[in-house]
Amino acid sequence: MTISGEDLPRIQTAIPGPESEERVDDLARSECPAITARRARRAEESGVSQDPIVWRRAKGANVEDVDGNIFVDLTGAFAVAGLGHGHPNIVEAAQNQAETLIHAMGDVYPGEAKIELCRRLAAVTPAELTHSILGLSGSSAVDAALKTAAVHTGRSGALAFWGGYHGLGSGSLGATAYREEFRRPFLGQLNSHIEHVPFPDTYRPPFGMSFDTKPEEVGRAVLTHICNKLRGPATAAEDVGAIIVEPIQGRGGEVAPPPGFLRGLREISDEFELVLIFDEIYTGFGRTGAMFACEHEGVVPDVMCVGKAMGGGFPLSAAIGRREVMDSWGLSSGEAVHTSTFLGNPLGCAMGCAVIDTLVEEGWPARVARRGQRIRKRLEVLARRHPERIGRIRGRGLMLGLEFVKDAASRVPDGELAVALTDYCRRRGYLVLPSGRHGQVLALSPPFVVTDEQWEGFFTVLGEGLKSLL
Ligand SMILES: Cc1ncc(COP(=O)(O)O)c(C=O)c1O
Repeated sequence: MTISGEDLPRIQTAIPGPESEERVDDLARSECPAITARRARRAEESGVSQDPIVWRRAKGANVEDVDGNIFVDLTGAFAVAGLGHGHPNIVEAAQNQAETLIHAMGDVYPGEAKIELCRRLAAVTPAELTHSILGLSGSSAVDAALKTAAVHTGRSGALAFWGGYHGLGSGSLGATAYREEFRRPFLGQLNSHIEHVPFPDTYRPPFGMSFDTKPEEVGRAVLTHICNKLRGPATAAEDVGAIIVEPIQGRGGEVAPPPGFLRGLREISDEFELVLIFDEIYTGFGRTGAMFACEHEGVVPDVMCVGKAMGGGFPLSAAIGRREVMDSWGLSSGEAVHTSTFLGNPLGCAMGCAVIDTLVEEGWPARVARRGQRIRKRLEVLARRHPERIGRIRGRGLMLGLEFVKDAASRVPDGELAVALTDYCRRRGYLVLPSGRHGQVLALSPPFVVTDEQWEGFFTVLGEGLKSLL
């Protein structure tokens, strides 16, 4: 069977199917058990399953599993497949590059593709961001950004936000505060100079503010809290060199801050001479309806981290900074103080160039903005139909989420409902994931190319799912 990328789901086995289950059992014999869930998450009584399906191939918005089931992927495989799985331009770039040069010597002897990619990154990001450090994962881009801030300011501390997700390496995990259990065993290894402050979630305002507090007031309260911290005797203002923030929290549940908040962070960073880091690993490359989410507010950080969609599926990331900030590293003496074996890998760089060229040439950011508005309207209709249980439609562009609550009055997150609905959708061929600190948000970060017919199919399934589960 082939998949076109525009197919509706075709489900022919239980989900996960027998072949998937067998392969995952096989995997468990040779992979650390903490990596791939295997029946661990199955709540036998409820019949809800999050057990993996094993992927065989993917194209456009379609994924086929090893049992021959065809799905519509509304996760974009962690928001990576913005242009769709296996976009022909990216496949062609990879094939051409693979025939010429697969591996070069990152900081010692760069391949041509790395030069092309750095040039394109400088061109496509806000004009002030001109100099890149390439990496291989979001986490490594965040490491590079935090190190850059330390080098530039001489201060190794940073402020980060509750609910923020920046990766799980020993450097980036210091900034991540998505779930406490991700950090607990490693606290001794993490940068103890990173402090966390509340994110201005206007749906559940921090500091005990009431639910009807105005969004701008929520933003202002957090900004004041940060200023007080930086001025106060307890936080060594002299120790904090950076603020790291997602312009819209991704794994934290597609949480957008109120208007003016990012600008406020810019002002604070200028006042206290901090390096402002925007983690655009999730939001970057068209996802929110602009090439980068910071463009919505016209705020330019000092360093921007990108990854995920950047490589079109190849592990690729970058921290892109202002010239004066990156210059703080000084010149390489031939022994780069920050590099890695695969930095600037030619295959990834060629794919990254194809991603950027395609996004620009095909005008995707504006198209995502239009598509996102349409999808959001449909979600809002559903939310109005179930006002007691759908608390809020979150996010921007094609980074959207439905937040489930136990009831509208308490706004207590309902992770079980989001997980049950995820399973319901998957059994009918639509892949979605829960996000949020309590798994209470049904997250949509689809390939931009999902067709109207595929969306219609999803909304039918979602509506039926809500009816049957509520
Ligand atoms: C905003 C953000 N930053 C960083 C990361 C970490 O990226 P990676 O998993 O590639 O290390 C993620 C991953 O989800 C992310 O969403």
